Amino acid sequence: MGVFIRPATAYDVDAVVDVGRRTWPQTYAPIAGEDYVRMGLAKWWTVAATRPLVVAGKATVAELDGEVVGVAVVGPLKGDLVLFRLYVVPEHQGTGIGRMLLEDVLQVARERGHRIIRLSYLDGNVNAERFYRAFGFTESHREPTGDGIPDSIWVVRDLWADAPDGEEPQS
Ligand SMILES: CC(C)(COP(=O)(O)OP(=O)(O)OC[C@H]1O[C@@H](n2cnc3c(N)ncnc32)[C@H](O)[C@@H]1OP(=O)(O)O)[C@@H](O)C(=O)NCCC(=O)NCCS
Repeated sequence: MGVFIRPATAYDVDAVVDVGRRTWPQTYAPIAGEDYVRMGLAKWWTVAATRPLVVAGKATVAELDGEVVGVAVVGPLKGDLVLFRLYVVPEHQGTGIGRMLLEDVLQVARERGHRIIRLSYLDGNVNAERFYRAFGFTESHREPTGDGIPDSIWVVRDLWADAPDGEEPQS
């Protein structure tokens, strides 16, 4: 079976939390430390913190052979659409699932009339930096994170820069 990209439902909440729990240690322990990983998992990757995002329709999952192996979460921030989470479990990274999730997010954002999308990654997350650069994101600014954690690098992408022919932003 292939990879299936679909909106998350309430039944996926535990699986979405599990994606974070499986992905955060590998991603952030080397660049931000074990305490940051513990803080992030306790603050953001809980059922209580994740369920509202899912039921609000902000989460998209990648399913492989019936298992949720990746998640994307979007939401508004200061008037812009922001991709708050994009994670693929370590054993399936580099197989095209992140691309499928991101392309779905970009397409849905266009359909909803957004012009740009923003996101941030921690300075030193070179995988994320290369991945987003390859998708046309460019740096807009840095934000100090504090507590000895690397800065957040904010990047932005024009959703219509390479939109399929015939599609235009809604005014
Ligand atoms: C970053 C992440 C979402 C990318 O998803 P992925 O499924 O591993 O990436 P894909 O296999 O879809 O790769 C898509 C493209 O990006 C490129 N790419 C992916 N990771 C890359 C890397 N580390 N360096 C260079 N290019 C990379 C691939 O070559 C591919 O290009 P292609 O389609 O032209 O071959 C995923 O690796 C991940 O979850 N990483 C850990 C968590 C993280 O850092 N998330 C982002 C937080 S802001």
